[in-house]
Amino acid sequence: MLFTVQLFDSSAQKQEQCNILPTPVVYKRVKGNLYLREKIHLNKENWPKNTLNQLDSMLQKFHKITIQDTTGKPFIRLRKLTNVPKDFYSISISSFIFISYSNERALYYAMQSLVQLIKTENKIKYIPKAFVQDYPKFDWRGLHLDVSRHFFSVEEIKRYLDLMAMYKLNTFHWHLTDDQGWRIEINAYPKLTTVGAFRDSTLIGHYTANPRKYDSQRHGGFYTQQEIKEIVSYAAERYIDVVPEIEMPGHSRAALAAYPRFSCTGKQQKVPGLWGVFEDIYCTKEESFQFLSNILNEVVSLFPGKYIHIGGDEAPKSRWKSCAKCQNVMQKNRLKDAHELQSYFISRIEQFLNKKGKNLIGWDEILEGGLSPNATVMSWRGFKGGIAAAKNGHYVVMTPGTHCYFDHYQGKSNEEPLAIGGYTPLEKVYQFNPIPDELDAAQASYILGGQANLWTEYITSYDQLEYMAYPRAIALSQALWCQNKPNYEKFCQVLYDVHYEKLDSLKVNYSKSSQRASITSKVNEKGISLILDSPDTSDIFCTSLRTKLSGEEIKLNLKAGEELMITRPKKHVTEQEIEFISKNSALGSTIHLTRHHALGAKVNYITKPNPQYHYAPSLLIDGQKGVRPWRGHEWIGFDTCKIIIEIKLPEKKKIKEIVFSFLESNGSWIYLPKQIQVSNQMKRRKKIRSTTNINSELVRLKIKKRLKTINIEINTFSSIPQGLPGAGRVPWTFLDEIVFH
Ligand code: ACM
Ligand code: ZN
Repeated sequence: MLFTVQLFDSSAQKQEQCNILPTPVVYKRVKGNLYLREKIHLNKENWPKNTLNQLDSMLQKFHKITIQDTTGKPFIRLRKLTNVPKDFYSISISSFIFISYSNERALYYAMQSLVQLIKTENKIKYIPKAFVQDYPKFDWRGLHLDVSRHFFSVEEIKRYLDLMAMYKLNTFHWHLTDDQGWRIEINAYPKLTTVGAFRDSTLIGHYTANPRKYDSQRHGGFYTQQEIKEIVSYAAERYIDVVPEIEMPGHSRAALAAYPRFSCTGKQQKVPGLWGVFEDIYCTKEESFQFLSNILNEVVSLFPGKYIHIGGDEAPKSRWKSCAKCQNVMQKNRLKDAHELQSYFISRIEQFLNKKGKNLIGWDEILEGGLSPNATVMSWRGFKGGIAAAKNGHYVVMTPGTHCYFDHYQGKSNEEPLAIGGYTPLEKVYQFNPIPDELDAAQASYILGGQANLWTEYITSYDQLEYMAYPRAIALSQALWCQNKPNYEKFCQVLYDVHYEKLDSLKVNYSKSSQRASITSKVNEKGISLILDSPDTSDIFCTSLRTKLSGEEIKLNLKAGEELMITRPKKHVTEQEIEFISKNSALGSTIHLTRHHALGAKVNYITKPNPQYHYAPSLLIDGQKGVRPWRGHEWIGFDTCKIIIEIKLPEKKKIKEIVFSFLESNGSWIYLPKQIQVSNQMKRRKKIRSTTNINSELVRLKIKKRLKTINIEINTFSSIPQGLPGAGRVPWTFLDEIVFH
């Protein structure tokens, strides 16, 4: 029988607060509540078996409600619809529950929503009477997990899938192989797991630490084919497709540790316990294709989904350039450079997968040297690659580092556990839109959706994984599901008021970083003012200022939004710690402040910083030093060999000393400068001090002069010397705070 339904116009509708996340297209509250008993009756015969089982376990888990079969009038009634948008469902809650659905997947989504609507007050369970109509915006709503850098157990993967399902994420991108571990049993090549799944030692702390230290502990693990099947079927019960990733030609050191003969040099090397990009990759000789085809042959039989991800990212070409076999492949196939060789490599793999009825998907580097004919592109280096692919009629999944890398910090790095770097707070994820303005409607139709990635170099436990994933995965789901998502503040209200309780009941270790008070500083003529921003606008902060030297402590109460003036010191520079404790959310924040004579000075960048690291011009004189490990935007970053900055002090002042604070992070090509020169800018510029003795991040220059306008010239290596990371390039110079004593 064919039913027609009236589709409501979501944009014209004024939405009342709805507790379902992701927010449905339509939620109309009507008067009254529907009260629930401990047992709910339904006609089991009408239900698809899997959705019934899922409903049963969800009602038990969240609400201790059991379902019972009835042949009479059921409490939850169903009807199937046709001619509605993909994965459409509706729920009407009146004196009973009426679910309309287009397919089993949609019925499952309806159940997830229904379970979220049930409230309990004084042990009484009820659902506010309402009408819900819903369907997703994008087909690909993905979450990725790197199990190579750190291994996660079958039980942990299932929990990860449960949470994804709760928020209607439907694609699990399982990053099964990388340099630091091979995690999938392959019968044809047992050493991939006996050798490739384990490493002897792992880096402690950050990649950029100098010197590096290792833990000397064996780490690893892998999934048997039986376990893979179990997880794929567990995901399928939750309407989640699993996309396995088998990395090639790069990120293959674990496989090459097991079978070195498939590299260019054949050299035996261990599974590394260091992160980054390695030079040794698969050789492009025929034997490697045989090896990879045999592996993929087993992979395709384990994963019923359409897509196989083959990586393709970050493959250095140095080995190929000096390998006779690779050069021979290039000649034979008339390939003009190493990029074309990579393109040839990926096309060969694509042909194999297409013959097996699978689609190839890879990171956006697969565009270099020419995209293979049917490939789908996962755009991670921003939106660019995805835009180019969509314009060429290729399908795209957007997963730009700016919005979708959940291994980035989500709060101030000094208040967060160690992470790789970057800054992707909850609100940034919430603003993610996979469709860039550059695409017209026809091109935009190639964007399948989006995904967030969880690389686990710095995620060493499942608890920490949840901390990095939640609540950001919920914001992602809003970005990918909602036709018209509510504004960020409304989302936060539902998240904080309703969903945190649910996550608490499941003992999810989600992060509360987005609720931390944030402090912004504004430069003004007296110095700087600090303004407190709290997610709760009625918040009061108990603020204490402590002066480091005297230990003197001042306490005051401040409302969110109020300004705290920090004036320049009359005489000496003082170091202060200001602690803001929120009365409402118990989450506070601490800042360390150096009160000095240039607070509020005017900074003129004669040399422009790189726009990516030019967060606020006043950053250099706002009293706050850049944090470590650096996330990026608290530092002013230059990529030129000569840097000229002019600083105009608010008043002429006797300056005893100027202290520069640089960042040294050679692994990221950030180096200390070679020379600094300070001049007094009066009618004519007059050099007053210079130094080439720079061997630490803090550089002090004695001055002892009355100054008003100061010209600072900083010189770096003209290029990074051979043998050091980034050799041959102009080094980065990162500077934050120039303190005037
Ligand atoms: C990637 O982050 N290397 C895809
Ligand atoms: Zn080779």
